[in-house]
Amino acid sequence: MSENPYPNYSPGLQGIIGGVTKISKIVSDTSSLTYRGINVHELAENGSFEETAFLLLHGYLPNSHQLSDFKQRMAAESALPDEVISALGLLPKHMHPMDALKYAYSLLAGFDEDYEAMDHDANVRKGERIVAKGPTVVAAAYRIMNGKEAIAPDPELSIAANFLYMLHGEKADDFTVKVMDASLTLYAEHTFNASAFACRVTVATLSDIYSGIVTGIGTLKGPLHGGANEKAMEMLLEIGDPDNAEEWIRSALAQKKKIMGFGHREYKKRDSRAIYLTKIGKEIGERKGETKWGEIASTLERVMETEKNIHPNVDFPAAYAYYLLGIPIELYTPIFVIARNSGWAAHAIEQLDNNRLIRPTCIYDGAEGVEWKPIDQR
Ligand code: SDX
Repeated sequence: MSENPYPNYSPGLQGIIGGVTKISKIVSDTSSLTYRGINVHELAENGSFEETAFLLLHGYLPNSHQLSDFKQRMAAESALPDEVISALGLLPKHMHPMDALKYAYSLLAGFDEDYEAMDHDANVRKGERIVAKGPTVVAAAYRIMNGKEAIAPDPELSIAANFLYMLHGEKADDFTVKVMDASLTLYAEHTFNASAFACRVTVATLSDIYSGIVTGIGTLKGPLHGGANEKAMEMLLEIGDPDNAEEWIRSALAQKKKIMGFGHREYKKRDSRAIYLTKIGKEIGERKGETKWGEIASTLERVMETEKNIHPNVDFPAAYAYYLLGIPIELYTPIFVIARNSGWAAHAIEQLDNNRLIRPTCIYDGAEGVEWKPIDQR
């Protein structure tokens, strides 16, 4: 990184504390991630995304009665208004599904019965509706933009199972549903990542939670953030064969390229979510007899570690796990939205519960004392 001319300024706000939260915690040295104090791997392995979403929105794990009621609310709120389905049909077909998501959630705000309300309970109700509609928005937008009819959610299915059903038109097997469910938990929340912080900045002006979600979606789209999972799969497809991997990665590093799915601002060592998803991704490859993506991944991981001491982040294994599950590449980041809606909503609720406008200062580095000149003298 180039010399910083301003000692009390950190480029990219690296290491700068942006706020105080009770939602999640990263311990970089031990690569640990907890949601409301609970280890994310316990949640991913032993729980469900519904339990994770409830935990993030309400602050505690639900008991069986609370979980049952929550699932009923999710089911009741999972359908989209006809007007939103029609509006998705107006989108130019070349647009990325992430742009369709921004558009859909902007519209959905107007159909929310708590549209005007900004109290805590209304924000939690809106947060639940935002989470409930995520899978339907992603699946419907993709199908409509590809000339197919949207499929209505099945109220008997979990969020993960319903997404796969609404996307493909048939129910997925239990293993596929479990992988999708675990990936949603792993993707749900991650302290003050760029999109969560952007969401907090938005609602800190006392704007509404839907505006915060639209900000979050727009921020997550970038390849330095959530968009990396799609770029990582495009990279793996370009490499194509394990025999090409070593030469490809060494050439890319020699050209100073950023390798998508690697590195992280917060983790000094490994992203613990990547460790878990790598295991899953390679298991899927074994099950499907398609181990080459895991083999290419292992080579890239080895070279990145030995040459740059840089490790994969959550987006790298998620890429080939989703590919092996038959998920269209352009939906990898939208799936991140399905999960992260719960984290963003939790941050918006927390910010609004104890709000102060977020407005940093800056260092002026431009010209001084410039003389005004009439236009005929310029
Ligand atoms: C997510 O913040 C979160 O929590 C995000 C997230 C979440 O759950 O919300 O975890 C999700 O966004 C994961 C990150 C996905 N993005 C990518 O995989 C894109 C590729 N990664 C890099 O662009 C980078 O690692 C970042 C953006 C993730 C972090 O960037 P930083 O902290 O600003 O680090 P940097 O770009 O200043 O790099 C520091 C050094 C540089 O080398 P030098 O110029 O000092 O010699 O490390 C190198 C970089 O070149 N480096 C990489 C690299 N990442 C860092 N070199 C090659 N490939 C990489 N991926």
